[in-house]
Amino acid sequence: MVAEFLDQIKEITAHGALSMAIALGIKLNLFEALAEVSSEENPATPEQVAEIASLKPRYETQNVFDFFSRYVREWLCAMACGGIIEVDTTGEKFWIKKNRVEIMIGPSRNHAFTQTSMFPSYGKVFYDIVNVFQKDGPYGMDYSSYADFYQVMSALSQSWHKKTLVKDFIPMIGMKERLQEGILVLDVGCGNGFHVCELASHFPKSHFIGIDITQKAVDEANSRTNGHKNVEFICMNAADMSKEWTDKFDLVFIFDACHDQCRPDLSVKEIHRVLKPTGLFAMVEIDGTSNCYKDKQEKGSTAALFYTASLFHCLPVGSNTSDALGLGAMWGIERGKNLLKDAGFTNVKVEKCPGFEVNCVYLSHK
Ligand SMILES: C[S@@+](CC[C@H](N)C(=O)[O-])C[C@H]1O[C@@H](n2cnc3c(N)ncnc32)[C@H](O)[C@@H]1O
Repeated sequence: MVAEFLDQIKEITAHGALSMAIALGIKLNLFEALAEVSSEENPATPEQVAEIASLKPRYETQNVFDFFSRYVREWLCAMACGGIIEVDTTGEKFWIKKNRVEIMIGPSRNHAFTQTSMFPSYGKVFYDIVNVFQKDGPYGMDYSSYADFYQVMSALSQSWHKKTLVKDFIPMIGMKERLQEGILVLDVGCGNGFHVCELASHFPKSHFIGIDITQKAVDEANSRTNGHKNVEFICMNAADMSKEWTDKFDLVFIFDACHDQCRPDLSVKEIHRVLKPTGLFAMVEIDGTSNCYKDKQEKGSTAALFYTASLFHCLPVGSNTSDALGLGAMWGIERGKNLLKDAGFTNVKVEKCPGFEVNCVYLSHK
């Protein structure tokens, strides 16, 4: 038993290290470079990969061991030993298995792969997180502490939702026809605008407003509108929306942005106010049970991943005021339903989202 547990810890440590290295490969386009220059029949040297990725080339020093592109080689070796890519018997040539290329690169990169990109930003705030645990430490963390958060989040959202958002999710919530006819839609906590822009391009007769609490998110969102005239992004606290918006929206979305607000209770009350009496509120959230034991039983390592992601990001940003609720990503369906009912929503239904593996959606009316 003890030996088994020690093996488990060793695996966890190795996988933690590999996660960081996969994230590095994603950031430096190394998987793309390797896929471009290699195959099982023609595996590539580190020099070839470095050249395609425009990274440090071959070292020309006196030392006989230095005749290769060392950083890229080290990364390739880590990936090969981790079973992510392949290495030939010389130990010097590498390739990606054909049936894995699509999982690892480009727009259809698998979300499990993309998810490794979270870890470098957690490493950056590691000592700040140590501080928030302290009795005299700050309440939490500000979004600005996570340098490239909006880009990482947007990449994650795309890898989670892009394939199925329009094709499966919108019909499932019963809004396809109304969006085609033209309605007014609000996305609360829109980040840098992936969902709004994706929906706006498919439903040109509808008008989309995205609000986010940080100007950085709004600026990034505005830079991706791609000329769509049916899109607006506004810097606004969801807990205190425009007084002129009462009964205004046909459809209000939240995509993974309720649990990390400091006062999600106030913002859901505001959503209740700004939703038309006939409108629909669709809140996409992390699918948790509100019970750690059940999360462990039902979701295993996915639950562990999201509790950890919450620890390093969602909980600290959602705890950053003296009156914050600090829900965390795994607050779960029981707490979610209560929050919506307390805000006045009736007939709250919670459904699995087609294709959104880690999510559920709360569908509610006034
Ligand atoms: C986890 S991100 C999700 C972003 C985006 N919806 C997505 O799925 O890619 C949460 C977002 O909520 C925003 N946010 C947090 N508190 C907010 C508040 N009180 N009002 C509006 N936006 C808020 C954050 O700035 C962040 O962009």
